[in-house]
Amino acid sequence: MPRPARGYRCSACGWTSPAYAGRCPQCQAWNTLEQYAESRGTGPARGNAAPIAARTVRLTEVPDEAGVRLSTRIEELDRVLGGGLVPGSLILVGGDPGIGKSTLVLQAAARLAGEGKQVAYVCGEESPRQVRMRATRLGIAEAQITLIPETSLDAALAAADGMGADVLIIDSIQSVYVEGLETRSGGPAQLSEAGARLVAFAKGNEIATIVTGHVTKGGEIAGPRLLEHLVDAVLYFENAEGGSLRVLRAVKNRFGATDEVGVFEMTSEGLQSVENPSSALLESHDAGASGCAVTAVIEGSRPLALEVQALAVPTNLASPRRIASGLETSRLHLLLAVLARRGGVNTGGMDVVASVSGGMRLRDPGADLAVLAALASAATDQPLPRGTAFLGEVALSGAIRPVQQAQRRLGELGRMGFTRCVAPEGTQPVEGVRLETVRSVRDALTRLHG
Ligand code: TYD
Ligand code: MG
Repeated sequence: MPRPARGYRCSACGWTSPAYAGRCPQCQAWNTLEQYAESRGTGPARGNAAPIAARTVRLTEVPDEAGVRLSTRIEELDRVLGGGLVPGSLILVGGDPGIGKSTLVLQAAARLAGEGKQVAYVCGEESPRQVRMRATRLGIAEAQITLIPETSLDAALAAADGMGADVLIIDSIQSVYVEGLETRSGGPAQLSEAGARLVAFAKGNEIATIVTGHVTKGGEIAGPRLLEHLVDAVLYFENAEGGSLRVLRAVKNRFGATDEVGVFEMTSEGLQSVENPSSALLESHDAGASGCAVTAVIEGSRPLALEVQALAVPTNLASPRRIASGLETSRLHLLLAVLARRGGVNTGGMDVVASVSGGMRLRDPGADLAVLAALASAATDQPLPRGTAFLGEVALSGAIRPVQQAQRRLGELGRMGFTRCVAPEGTQPVEGVRLETVRSVRDALTRLHG
């Protein structure tokens, strides 16, 4: 909407209105609206010099996105990005130190360079020699990547501009600083300013830019989370159990679906895309052990089969321990309460540990019944029947509710060799997987040993 030529403007936030108000509706400041008048059209602006006109572009002349995406040729990374890098976009890759951010961006850099792209890699954290050593280990030491060993952001951007970069990598955001700001590098003021300059640089020069950032376990305030609102996409690298699987998750993506995940394995030659994540996630599944239940979740655009493991041991502690990894502790508490009240399985005198295979994080309530079955099996030390998987959302009443995309989940479970599935009433069957439909937690528990 065009701004009115006359009206009132907030001196604090710049909000404009044709009518006076005592309080700015945008920033809530009092008595900040001041009258203004602007000339339009032909004549020069009254009082001030004429502003420099902004660039205009016709919508139809903007190139279509499809043709301009740069594939990283790393399948799982492209998947999470929504098909590749978009020129002019800024992407944040966050994760714990040591999880593999540098490895991932260096591998992507090499692939992009192999496609003839000019890739600038700002290694503020490591010396060129260290980057070279990693590249040798990854078998990509011959890649045509330009290293910029620089910690001054402006100097690094000038160098990237000078070489005509198509892709810019900053590893890491904490290692570069903006000159002229009197605060320590990695601090909030530095991060915000560096982020803003990077956005302007990426957009202005149509350069696809990837920035890595360490996130510490405590969720440090001055961490890269400050950048989340500035950037176009935020990808987090996760691995909860310390195994070799790495899950890359889009938590924000202006150019693709959020919650899409990519699954990698860290090997001695770097990160490899995992072609069959369900099989990797079920690799250590021990069907004969108590406390192990298999389910399928929907992660982004695909179903993944995984295992929930639980252990329950008697304790003398007045308040027994509840340890959850890969699922919310509050979810664990809730399901234990439902199990006690609706299923008659009481864990009040036991320490309970629950985890999810491969460092996956359960966000999908469709996995509730599997968690509950694992807990019941752990508490009674009775293994669950072999070849049986679990689907269903659990309500406080003990009712088992339907799950979304049940067919795709069942299909994946069938593909992984599961021939029987305990599922909510009304679930449509899929060939090869026999359904045991249940209405309630009690129903499900009796069916297990029946
Ligand atoms: P790195 O990419 O340096 O992590 P970040 O940049 O997130 O801090 O990865 C470091 C870890 O990965 C380190 O423990 C060594 C391991 N690694 C491999 O296992 N294989 C490899 O080929 C490489 C390069 C690293
Ligand atoms: Mg690193």
